[in-house]
Amino acid sequence: GNDTVGPSLVPPPGTSKHAPHSIIIGVRKGGTRALLEMLDIHPEVAAAATEVHFFDWDENYAKGFEWYREQMPYSYPNQITVEKTPGYFTSPVAPGRIRAMNSSIRLLLILRDPTERVISDYTQVYFNRLENHKPVQAIENMLVKNGALNTRYKAIQRSLYDVHMRNWLQHFPLEQIHIVDGDTLIHDPLPELQRVERFLHLPPRIVASNFYFNQTKGFYCIRSDGHERCLHESKGRPHPPVNSTVLRQLCLYLRQHNRNFYRLIGRTFNWQ
Ligand code: A3P
Repeated sequence: GNDTVGPSLVPPPGTSKHAPHSIIIGVRKGGTRALLEMLDIHPEVAAAATEVHFFDWDENYAKGFEWYREQMPYSYPNQITVEKTPGYFTSPVAPGRIRAMNSSIRLLLILRDPTERVISDYTQVYFNRLENHKPVQAIENMLVKNGALNTRYKAIQRSLYDVHMRNWLQHFPLEQIHIVDGDTLIHDPLPELQRVERFLHLPPRIVASNFYFNQTKGFYCIRSDGHERCLHESKGRPHPPVNSTVLRQLCLYLRQHNRNFYRLIGRTFNWQ
């Protein structure tokens, strides 16, 4: 929320740090930053500033729960603490570890069309590598190996939502995992945020005037407490065109996984 307190040496009076009441578990490139920033509009939400990677990175998990709590923002007693680490969704160990901390925690999962997510994932890695002066590959070189779809490519593996969801459902009932439609969040954020408020039992505080469409950015930006802000320039990048034959192969491969996923969660999406 707007009275969320940033990192400071002296805790503001009346605040303390709490383990999260809710975690945005992923998916990477699903719109996790947008979701966290938009939820942070709510005065009763205290959002962690950075990705904590506690449950998916062994070296952090080894530091223990007290370390984890220390990473959280200071919050007032009426606020709930939320952290987001997109790597949790695809981590084989995260669900069991989160349950060990708090088996009744509310989980938020934001998903978008898995084909689109592969391209977004590639684009992020492409720009990271450029910044670090590492060589880059055309997307087709990543997607295809020996003339066939390279299904071992990490970006494709992360888009197998059924595979990862099955793991989460071993540890949490479906009712504890609220799925946010990342495609809808891009075009019409308010209804998605209102559903999240209800899921988290928060009073309705996020309203239409908290969002405005920025033509230059091409995305919705946030208006809160008299300030206007868009997400970082790394969010909402243009995607490269993909060879249509390769794209068709990718869609075909993901189609069955999507069907499996719909059956698993008892809900469908209009992914290709
Ligand atoms: P692209 O950059 O590929 O378009 P994450 O924060 O999980 O990495 O997700 C990034 C994605 O959030 C972006 O992917 C973008 O499509 C999406 N997004 C959703 N709402 C957005 C918004 N209001 N501003 C910018 N990006 C947004």
